[in-house]
Amino acid sequence: MKEELITIQKDAIEEIKNVTSEAELLKVKSNYLGKEGKIPAITKNIKDLSIEEKKEIGSLSGKVRGDIETAIKNKMEEIKSKNTKKITFDHTIPVDEKIGSLSPVTIVAKKVTEALEKMGFIIVSGPEKEDDYHNFEALNIPADHPARDMQDTYWLSTGELLRTHTSPCQVRAMEKYSAPLRIAAPGRCFRNEDIDACHENTFFQLEGMVIDENVSINNLIYVMKNILTEVFETEVDVRLRPGFFPFVEPGFELDVKCLICGGKGCPTCKNSGWLELLPCGMVHPNVLKMSGIDPEKYSGFAFGIGLTRLAMMKYKIKDIRELNSGDTRVLGQFGIK
Ligand code: PHE
Repeated sequence: MKEELITIQKDAIEEIKNVTSEAELLKVKSNYLGKEGKIPAITKNIKDLSIEEKKEIGSLSGKVRGDIETAIKNKMEEIKSKNTKKITFDHTIPVDEKIGSLSPVTIVAKKVTEALEKMGFIIVSGPEKEDDYHNFEALNIPADHPARDMQDTYWLSTGELLRTHTSPCQVRAMEKYSAPLRIAAPGRCFRNEDIDACHENTFFQLEGMVIDENVSINNLIYVMKNILTEVFETEVDVRLRPGFFPFVEPGFELDVKCLICGGKGCPTCKNSGWLELLPCGMVHPNVLKMSGIDPEKYSGFAFGIGLTRLAMMKYKIKDIRELNSGDTRVLGQFGIK
């Protein structure tokens, strides 16, 4: 038995030396140490030996097993280290200096939402695929209302639509939170526009709404001014003129003097010197009523900022198409803000 063990050890060490792959090594391991292996085949007979022999063979078989295990372990490390390619870091390879950037629209959206959050607004969102009720009906624009023509809509075969503005978020917020509320909802909108320097079929707006007791036009103007100061970090020339939107009464257009041409007139401002930036107004009582809010008790204002336009003004981007172009040279100019 002693000789047998010594031969087994010799053979095993020899075989281990010669294997070249992990799979082969595992096979050798199981041939010798596995349940049906050569070592257990011998050690299971130890119980029949005399006490003296038990001691001797017992400790020898332990040693043989240990030696084989060590040889297998070392061989395994050797095989593994051969298989792993050494990855080294080369300090001399030049770095690719193209650094990503947030989109200008995201940057202004962040600025506006931060300004609004400071005034106690919560930021909400709504679906881009809307239903007729939330996009039009609940905003006081019934099916036969000519105001529907102002927004050339992408209708889906399901009867739903791609939202033409972020105003459905007003309705969803009233349904969810009722009054009082203060929400802002930035998001993507879609209209079947003829595309030119200031119109795109996909653009971004930010809807704002405040409903409370005794809300007045003064509150509206204060909030609008606050937002614009925050975004442009400077005084901008604005003008307020009447504007019509069926869901507000009275309704206004807040225009900003074109920061690209300084008011002289250019393609971006359609040669008018002003850019419509902030349609707004006092929430129409019908809109409150339809969403279950008592217009006798509550009043409110709403506004819809053209985030894409705002970004164009802030960063003096002359053509709206640049923003949806996917051209990294456009975005690369803004750096990470
Ligand atoms: N949703 C309107 C539009 O896109 C803008 C608006 C929002 C007007 C809120 C008044 C109040 O044309």
